[in-house]
Amino acid sequence: MIPETVPKEDVFLASAEFCKTSHVSSFDKYKELYMKSIENPGEFWGGVAKDFFWKTKHCGDFLSYNFDVTKGEIFTKFMEGATTNICYNLLDRNVHEKNLGNKVAFFWEGNEPGDALTITYRELLQKVCQFANVLKTQGVKKGDRVSIYMPMVVELVVAMLACARIGAVHSIVFAGFSAESLCERIMDSECSLLITADGFYRGDKLINLKLLADDALQKCKDKGFAVSRCIVLKHLSKGAEEGSQSPPAKRSCPDLQDNLTGRVKKRRPVPQVPWNPEVDQCWHTLVKGASDQCEPEWCDSEDPLFILYTSGSTGKPKGVLHTVSGYMLYTATTFRLVFDYQPDDVYWCTADIGWITGHSYITYGPLANGATSVLFEGLPTYPDVGRMWEIVDKYRVTKFYTAPTAIRLLMKYGSEPVKKHKRDSLKVLGTVGEPINPEAWQWYYSVVGEKRCPIVDTFWQTETGGHVLTPLPAATPMKPGSATFPFFGVLPAILNESGEELEGPSEGYLVFKQPWPGIMRTVYGNQMRFETTYFKKFPGYYVTGDGCKRDKDGYYWITGRIDDMLNVSGHLLSTAEVESALVEHECVAEAAVVGRPHPVKGESLYCFVTLSEGVSFSGGLESELRNLVREKIGAIATPDYIQNAPGLPKTRSGKIMRRVLRKIACGERELGDISTLADSSVVEQLFQNRCCTA
Ligand code: PRX
Repeated sequence: MIPETVPKEDVFLASAEFCKTSHVSSFDKYKELYMKSIENPGEFWGGVAKDFFWKTKHCGDFLSYNFDVTKGEIFTKFMEGATTNICYNLLDRNVHEKNLGNKVAFFWEGNEPGDALTITYRELLQKVCQFANVLKTQGVKKGDRVSIYMPMVVELVVAMLACARIGAVHSIVFAGFSAESLCERIMDSECSLLITADGFYRGDKLINLKLLADDALQKCKDKGFAVSRCIVLKHLSKGAEEGSQSPPAKRSCPDLQDNLTGRVKKRRPVPQVPWNPEVDQCWHTLVKGASDQCEPEWCDSEDPLFILYTSGSTGKPKGVLHTVSGYMLYTATTFRLVFDYQPDDVYWCTADIGWITGHSYITYGPLANGATSVLFEGLPTYPDVGRMWEIVDKYRVTKFYTAPTAIRLLMKYGSEPVKKHKRDSLKVLGTVGEPINPEAWQWYYSVVGEKRCPIVDTFWQTETGGHVLTPLPAATPMKPGSATFPFFGVLPAILNESGEELEGPSEGYLVFKQPWPGIMRTVYGNQMRFETTYFKKFPGYYVTGDGCKRDKDGYYWITGRIDDMLNVSGHLLSTAEVESALVEHECVAEAAVVGRPHPVKGESLYCFVTLSEGVSFSGGLESELRNLVREKIGAIATPDYIQNAPGLPKTRSGKIMRRVLRKIACGERELGDISTLADSSVVEQLFQNRCCTA
């Protein structure tokens, strides 16, 4: 439970000035609200719900659930029977009831400095309504799944909210995923329509997204699943002749000078856009004729809102399903309290909308609060390593949310590029995605925030929908590297291997004992997998898959995944998924993948491959394997190390001892007990073949 008191020494505190205006201004206040949220969740969340628009009120229990597989089906229901529309609450309510029509919803900042635009709540509402009407004319109905594969542009937000407006279920696939991954996700969720773009730049690199999308659709077709419609946003080739078979010629426009920054904005060649008139339709043409009025579809609280795929330990990604009202209440509340949102804030989350962080804390949470956000298409190091801080100054960002991997990357360049920029607008800093090492925390705190800004280290998952362990910036004394305490409504426990709850300082499995509104409802199309993955090991608990320590002061410290999952740059990857990509190569007989600590990415991918008879290991084969994994999964899964492994350490029953492989990957000779190995001589051989550099 929450400790009575928290330490006053060896912790970091927000300034008294900051606390004065904060929503939750002290630890005592946090404790009081927390107890209410746990003892009477219905009353607590019912209070939050009052701020939202409901077409019809809920009837019956505010919350019902079962977390115990021995008692029947696992389910969570919040406000069942109430009807609402999340898009209405994010846009119409803000424009019409809160008078925020002229407030900026997004400052879009493109990959190229100087490429920028601003969109207000009213403009966003118009665009969403127009596009919702487009979707309707394309035959999309309530409950239909729509796949979205787009760069970080305003139209991505428009597409997702247009789906939500008509009750369609969006399934966004991160634009860094491969055609194969997109195909797998489209087929799993049986999407009837794909929304994509011609392409985009990541730094200097052109990503020809349409080619990848076409490839994915062809793959779907080959597997017997035809997606008949694809809407293409011309992000780079806007204005180019549309609908023609021949793509616009590559052209190079003169560079432009940006009025605001004085910087020269490079004009780059536009991508080749193959066009299939039977399937492809141009976004701009469709929108031109569409009305900007669109009555929302009133949805039940427990109707599906979106599917988002996350890696699963079997290798096949899981379609995590979130529903309308619980997700809305939870993302809105966590956003407001964890970032201590104030109406004049300019908030910036650097994640991509293709991940849950972008769903919850770029689109849904901020818009539900009527916040102004920065939406950034580019990279933290392009055109130089000062880009983040330049943007912070340009828009006077007050709340900034990023990943430890980005902090460690920028830390490598020292404090000079940071100090060149003022950053005096910053008030709260946040991190997400993986444990932050205390050294990176200190750098973030002292150099970026100049010891003025509390840091919220937010622990959560695609499955949790929003923050579950996190400091509240004014209330929680911070310890670098600890996600501190549970958010409202969240009841954590630490279990040992036998499923017993551990009290006081302890270490074990991190689980949750009761649902909060934002928890996932099922794995799309596979309730059995949902129950097996999260509820079977310890009946009565949601199992996160993370290890966790509780210290003497009651603080929670995430120790990392305890399943076969890797966290590379804050992105979860399953070892099985990478292994099955590797063994698709005809020269590979077997593969085993483990994580090796990496100073910037957190973990890197270390792959052991056993080659087929008669094949020899070479640099050429290594790069073929790297390319194969990129092609199958995407660039985020590119192996860092590939080692020739004539044999793998296996038990007599044939199970690979990954614990031994992890030690070999790190060059650690202390292997622990290896008496169960069938052939211990492979270990020495593997040490000799070790890759020392990536
Ligand atoms: O291992 C935990 C780690 O990221 C996992 C969830 O990954 P994903 O579903 O992709 O969502 C990432 C963004 C929410 C968790 O199981 N993780 C996330 N945040 C933290 C973290 N580990 C430690 N500290 C965090 N703050």
